Amino acid sequence: MKYGFFDDERKEYVITNPQTPFPWINYLGNKDFFSLISNTAGGYSFYKDAKFRRINRYRYNNVPMDNGGRYFYINDEGTVWSPGWKPVKTELDHYECRHGLSYTSIKGEKNDIEAEVVFFVPLNALCEVQKMKLTNKSSKTKKIKLFSLIEWCLWNAEDDQNNLQRNFSTGEVEIHGSTLYHKTEYKERRNHYAFYHVNAPIQGFDTDRESFIGLYNEFSHPDAVFTGKPKNSEAHGWSPIASHCLEVELQPGESKEYIFLLGYVENTEDKKWESKGVINKTKANRTIEQFNSSEKVNRALDKLATYWDNLLSNYSIHSGNDKLDRMVNIWNQYQCMVTFNMSRSASFFEVGIGRGMGFRDSNQDLIGFIHQIPERARERIIDIASTQFEDGGAYHQYQPLTKRGNNAVGGNFNDDPLWLILSTTAYIKETGDFSILEEIVPFDNDESRAKTHFEHLKASFYHVVNNLGPHQLPLIGRADWNDCLNLNCFSKDPNESFQTTENQTGGSAESIMIAGLFVVYGKDFVELCRRIGRKDEVDNAQEHVDKMVKSIKKHGWDGEWFLRAYDSFGNKVGSKDNEEGKIFIESQGWCTMAGIGKNEGMCEKALNSVKKYLDCEYGIVLNHPAFTKYVIEYGEISTYPAGYKENAGIFCHNNPWVMIGETMIGRGDQAWEYFRKICPSYLEEISDLHKTEPYAYAQMIAGKDAFKPGEAKNSWLTGTAAWTYYVITQYILGVKPSYDGLEISPCIPKTWKSYTVSRKFRGAVYEISIDNSEGVNCGIKELTINGETMHKNVIPIQKAGTINKVNVKMG
Ligand code: BGC
Ligand code: NOJ
Repeated sequence: MKYGFFDDERKEYVITNPQTPFPWINYLGNKDFFSLISNTAGGYSFYKDAKFRRINRYRYNNVPMDNGGRYFYINDEGTVWSPGWKPVKTELDHYECRHGLSYTSIKGEKNDIEAEVVFFVPLNALCEVQKMKLTNKSSKTKKIKLFSLIEWCLWNAEDDQNNLQRNFSTGEVEIHGSTLYHKTEYKERRNHYAFYHVNAPIQGFDTDRESFIGLYNEFSHPDAVFTGKPKNSEAHGWSPIASHCLEVELQPGESKEYIFLLGYVENTEDKKWESKGVINKTKANRTIEQFNSSEKVNRALDKLATYWDNLLSNYSIHSGNDKLDRMVNIWNQYQCMVTFNMSRSASFFEVGIGRGMGFRDSNQDLIGFIHQIPERARERIIDIASTQFEDGGAYHQYQPLTKRGNNAVGGNFNDDPLWLILSTTAYIKETGDFSILEEIVPFDNDESRAKTHFEHLKASFYHVVNNLGPHQLPLIGRADWNDCLNLNCFSKDPNESFQTTENQTGGSAESIMIAGLFVVYGKDFVELCRRIGRKDEVDNAQEHVDKMVKSIKKHGWDGEWFLRAYDSFGNKVGSKDNEEGKIFIESQGWCTMAGIGKNEGMCEKALNSVKKYLDCEYGIVLNHPAFTKYVIEYGEISTYPAGYKENAGIFCHNNPWVMIGETMIGRGDQAWEYFRKICPSYLEEISDLHKTEPYAYAQMIAGKDAFKPGEAKNSWLTGTAAWTYYVITQYILGVKPSYDGLEISPCIPKTWKSYTVSRKFRGAVYEISIDNSEGVNCGIKELTINGETMHKNVIPIQKAGTINKVNVKMG
């Protein structure tokens, strides 16, 4: 069953039934000020950090789900309703939510009044704009009351929910005309406040929650709204809110627009006050001035649209397959931007108070993003590298506000360092900017211990070499990419975190996934050294890579597939000899991407085993058979019920590794089939089962052993976004940035006859037409650029500003 449709022309997903199987959300904001917004206007905003600068309050996992947001209420002669259906839930005559690129528009109609609100965060502004348009579609004059509502969060989102003995006394507001200010803790250590404004005179307001709603009422039934009388309350402690009340008279056919602004201001210490106890409103007024008319707001919306058109134009395809085109051209790129901005902090599954920026996550996110804004990718790479240790290891996470490593989580996840080679080489291939390697970058944020970025990559490479176990395979440390394969944890205490506990120190557990990863990015490191003339490094590094290949072949092969690991007793993990967890996806992905034993048929065998044991209707599960009991020497992986998360769930992030592996052996049909299975636009028809948004990838889809196979969770903030984008654009459609130019090597289903790709690369445009009338999976017979025949499949870099025609004949 569907709950809406794609409007590709407008780059929107249109939700026509507010009762989606889960709140379907969107992200507003591109830098610094961000908002999450659901299809019923639930959600919240924050400045830079969802934990420390939460602007409005949101209660996760509430009843009903998605309770709280930026709400509007209309009282039309006693009929009370909300344009987004919630919170009042009066049945609407018409409802429509359009999630677009960094904006959401929600329209409701009841008794011939139409209310349409467009929510967005303008470029370079610290506010959320809410443009409300009210239209009287009836033939008589209507007099209605319009109420807004925001509930303030007392800034630190975690403390806000916990420290009530203090919080109920600290809340402070200021009321000034149509602007309601939130200034809790401003008089002490905070130099920031927030405000909620409307560009029209108001009939009244409320800033105290209990006065507005009534102590025993709910968001759906605020006293002030139902009686039609704002209380003009002034909050002192308890729970400050901001609510405007406007009386609106509409003639038949008339429309009126109001601009509501939710803003954030930071002042310097010396400019905090206008007079004693009165906040300095200069910056707030400036923001208000910028967006105080529909014309100004429409201009800001146009700018936002142009911004996105530009970003998306760097890579677009026309394949004639709408489901594919809309993912590649719009939604997957968009999600990559969201993961770049949010990492794993704030979604409807990540509560915005827990996780900082992950070292491995942030590096991987970049591969879906570099082509959009390479300068910001460069900054991010340097930020990440600055938290690395001198021995190449890394804090597992860092905090976005301080950009410092997170001591509470620590390090010792031994895959972490290698992802820095991936992000850096991907960046250089896209931009040609080798100068990043010369950048002086601190270790552990300590400037006195700074070295070139190249030295960081070298440290990453040698961190693996210097941490090998008994089989000359990489020690796993606390865990590798699979955070739940905790081979040194040995936890019996339910109060211990699997993520931070390491009861078995000096553990000798080894990871074959890291081994494969090392071969892939080790080769990249060698190639990079060669390119920059570091011949001194090349031979040594190559030797370590070769040795690793040998170790994998000798100790990492199980006959039909690659082993996953050795546990801390030296026992095999992911072997036919195991009772459960006989085969795992990660090592099949990485060892086939590394081409280990390709000539001996190992890659093909491993991938056939994936198909046989791990593939199912909804994607490839992580392991098989699923664990049915807790295995202390494996850790968290065996805690999940069978079929969920890392225990045999379809952990979508890793499916693309197998897809790439398939393209390495030329099996385009199989690669595509795996792609299609987890691709959200293909799952739109089964939205009631799939549950999460049909325009965003989810981290996990319940696997074949689950109670409800096919049901997704954890949408939006997942490495799946970057990896699916990477595999479809570079390995399946086959347009790959490389040091010397654009490499063309499609690996597609035989049935695809043709498609075109438009790619901006290092300043030039490439219009690439692929002709597969011979119906092959891969292979190029003829390649011309601007009519000239090429004898290899790398198109040399063309002059910036040129538009180049590339014709490719497969065969
Ligand atoms: C989850 C992982 C996650 C880890 C770190 C685990 O409980 O299953 O997917 O990466 O926590 O927060
Ligand atoms: C989610 C985490 O963010 C990521 O770092 C990890 O690799 C996967 N879970 C798999 O455990």
